[in-house]
Amino acid sequence: MRTRPLKVALLGCGVVGSEVARIMTTHADDLAARIGAPVELAGVAVRRPSKVREGIDPALITTDATALVKRGDIDVVIEVIGGIEPARTLITTAFEHGASVVSANKALLAEDGATLYAAAEQHGRDLYFEAAVAGAIPLIRPLRESLAGDKVNRVLGIVNGTTNFILDKMDSSGTGYSEALDEATALGYAEADPTADVEGFDAAAKAAILAGIAFHTRVRLDDVYREGLTEVTAADMASARRMGCTVKLLAICERAADGQSVTARVHPAMIPLSHPLASVREAYNAVFVEAEAAGQLMFYGPGAGGSPTASAVLGDLVAVCRNKLAEATGPGESAYTQLPVSPMGDVVTRYHISLDVADKPGVLAQVATVFAEHGVSIDTLRQQGKDGEASLVVVTHRAPDAALSGTVEALRKLDTVRGVASIMRVEGE
Ligand SMILES: NC(=O)c1ccc[n+]([C@@H]2O[C@H](COP(=O)([O-])OP(=O)(O)OC[C@H]3O[C@@H](n4cnc5c(N)ncnc54)[C@H](OP(=O)(O)O)[C@@H]3O)[C@@H](O)[C@H]2O)c1
Repeated sequence: MRTRPLKVALLGCGVVGSEVARIMTTHADDLAARIGAPVELAGVAVRRPSKVREGIDPALITTDATALVKRGDIDVVIEVIGGIEPARTLITTAFEHGASVVSANKALLAEDGATLYAAAEQHGRDLYFEAAVAGAIPLIRPLRESLAGDKVNRVLGIVNGTTNFILDKMDSSGTGYSEALDEATALGYAEADPTADVEGFDAAAKAAILAGIAFHTRVRLDDVYREGLTEVTAADMASARRMGCTVKLLAICERAADGQSVTARVHPAMIPLSHPLASVREAYNAVFVEAEAAGQLMFYGPGAGGSPTASAVLGDLVAVCRNKLAEATGPGESAYTQLPVSPMGDVVTRYHISLDVADKPGVLAQVATVFAEHGVSIDTLRQQGKDGEASLVVVTHRAPDAALSGTVEALRKLDTVRGVASIMRVEGE
């Protein structure tokens, strides 16, 4: 074993970084044996230097992250600061100064992964980011390496623990969205500002990363259609139950049937209780991958939290250090297919639509005609009436999203339709 240590700079020492530092220290001997050389924490960049950081030599702490990555003797930079800047500049500067990079930064990879990949390639360094999607769950490496000989057609996943906790609570206890969010906040599953989670931004960033890797093309955050879960009601949950379904916030990346384009989207969807993703409870994550030769694969586990995320970061650290010793690099960007990302209107799926209508003769026929005129075929239709008003629940066969949007627009114009209470896609069948 080499005795000269590989030097690691840690950028960020918060929820994830502090766990990375702890595991690097407590498992130092095992890590050295697995890598073939000891790894030494050479510096830790933070924002607030006076904060007490247990187990970390105060002499290693710095607020000058730029100087740390420019030192020239750093082998690996671990970026767990988050956000776009200064993370992006720090990562590209690290590559320029001889380091490979391990990052957990989904926002940056989804926004501008191409710049990072290009800088890594230009300087002959590694860029690893297993922790950026679904925390501890090995997913990036299986897609990038284990399935590199197969053709992935679909990735369907629960990739945000906060929203899964909220939906699971709504499903199991019948509570509304606000009460479930309050409970998630009280238990530490939701942040004080939950926007990134509940509006689907976090899941959309992960969908962009997964689609890019799965389909060997470039997919950016802006390419991902996104709807959060704030509009999901207790009534939607009850309706899903009646259909033998539950509601999940899904990230769905698909290759078109003709193979000429891809789609990536995040939105709440009903899935059958028999689908493996329906049984993913609380804040767990799971990703279902469909590949041509492999068939269906499911990856399941804790998708966030300091220690699970640090596990993924440490796995990358070992891989990058091994590459460094072998004077090699791991896989870089694979975007050779350059498939276009189609708009949401081209996505074909099923829909559950709940309408408030007047309870009088002819309404059903009127509604059915609007669906037919837009080429959306009805699978089931259920009506409940009371005091001159009625609710109508329509479940369609598969239709393009654009056709469904046109249908809903036309339904809203009917005098007998008082309102469109909810529209939800039905997936996983
Ligand atoms: N938390 C999770 O469960 C999880 C899961 C998967 C991926 N991730 C990703 O991991 C990354 C880190 O997340 P986190 O939850 O650990 O964040 P966090 O707890 O907010 O920690 C961020 C760290 O970065 C430091 N920092 C912020 N701005 C800095 C700057 N300009 N220069 C130097 N240091 C700076 C902070 O310093 P101070 O300590 O002085 O404030 C803090 O130590 C993010 O990209 C996130 O998306 C997190």
